[in-house]
Amino acid sequence: MNKDIYILGIESSCDDTAAAVLKNGYVLSNSIANQSIHKLYGGVIPEAASRAHMQNIIPVVENAMSIAGISKKELAAVAFTRGPGLLGSLLVGSSFAKAFSMGLGVPIIAVNHMQAHVLAHFIRDDTKKGVPTFPFLCLTVSGGHTQIVLVSDFFEMKVVGETTDDAAGEAFDKIAKTMGVPYPGGPLVDKFALAGDPNRFVFTHPKVAGFDYSFSGLKTAVLYLVRDGVQANSDFVQDNINDICASAQYTIVEILLAKLKLAAAHYKINTIAVAGGVSANSLLRKRLLTDGEKLGWNVFIPDFGYCTDNAAMIAMTGYLKFLNSDFAAQDSAAKARLSIGN
Ligand code: KG4
Ligand code: ZN
Repeated sequence: MNKDIYILGIESSCDDTAAAVLKNGYVLSNSIANQSIHKLYGGVIPEAASRAHMQNIIPVVENAMSIAGISKKELAAVAFTRGPGLLGSLLVGSSFAKAFSMGLGVPIIAVNHMQAHVLAHFIRDDTKKGVPTFPFLCLTVSGGHTQIVLVSDFFEMKVVGETTDDAAGEAFDKIAKTMGVPYPGGPLVDKFALAGDPNRFVFTHPKVAGFDYSFSGLKTAVLYLVRDGVQANSDFVQDNINDICASAQYTIVEILLAKLKLAAAHYKINTIAVAGGVSANSLLRKRLLTDGEKLGWNVFIPDFGYCTDNAAMIAMTGYLKFLNSDFAAQDSAAKARLSIGN
């Protein structure tokens, strides 16, 4: 009988400290500590994030191990996020992973955070309708990235389009901040938009070549709308927040889908996946399904818990690398910048 493979995954690339244990690709535990300190500043403060990771990492790993109900000695390997992300944050997770694995005498596995968002689709779950088949296109939309990725195999990924300025999640967060909505604003914009009219304010779409994106123009358009509105009526935001959120969200989703449709037609690919924090957005999820059905797409959307940053996706990527005996050296360095192709 084959031996069960238990992988501990550790994620600390931004402002969430997370740990998860997978058994043969199935999630046994998926723990996360969010950092509320950044709400005070309207964005992530790197130094504060590193300090919070240092406080959280041991309790979060202990929690994940205890929920998984296995002993440390049963772990086959420890997978950690190598990058991309905030260097100080990455250093906490990678240093912990190295020390922990050395103590246990097991290998470490270095994981690319953006690859992990895509590979979250392969987390095993017997209730799932299936997994994407290769090749597929994955729209990876997070706070730091907006890319259309051509996925030819687990570790063969090529960016075919990406943002030339702000990421989609960043646009959500900055638009929210303009209206005094706390960080991270994306989920709250989504909530306000439910009660708003998406056609009340019309924003122009950017003109960008190929499958690339731009969101800085929309961010500025909302800023000017709010600035001018408040000059005329000091309650402008309060009176119109639902409609502003609905209109801005509608525009972001339209922009995202337009390029995705172009890329799908160009590459003649109808297996379409979405990944990253913005894939939690209710309109994006709905439109992918409705537009996808019209276009004959086979659409894959992760469960909510695997959209935003989590360690289950790191452990899953670690498991796939473990099967390939793709281990890292103790001196493998954390990397703030790391392309999805390596
Ligand atoms: O993948 P993620 O958790 O972290 C990064 O790697 O960046 O993505 C976080 C981003 C934030 O910008 C957040 O506002 C956005 O995902 N987000 C959403 C929603 N949930 C999270 N944006 C729009 N609608 C949501 N429901
Ligand atoms: Zn992420």
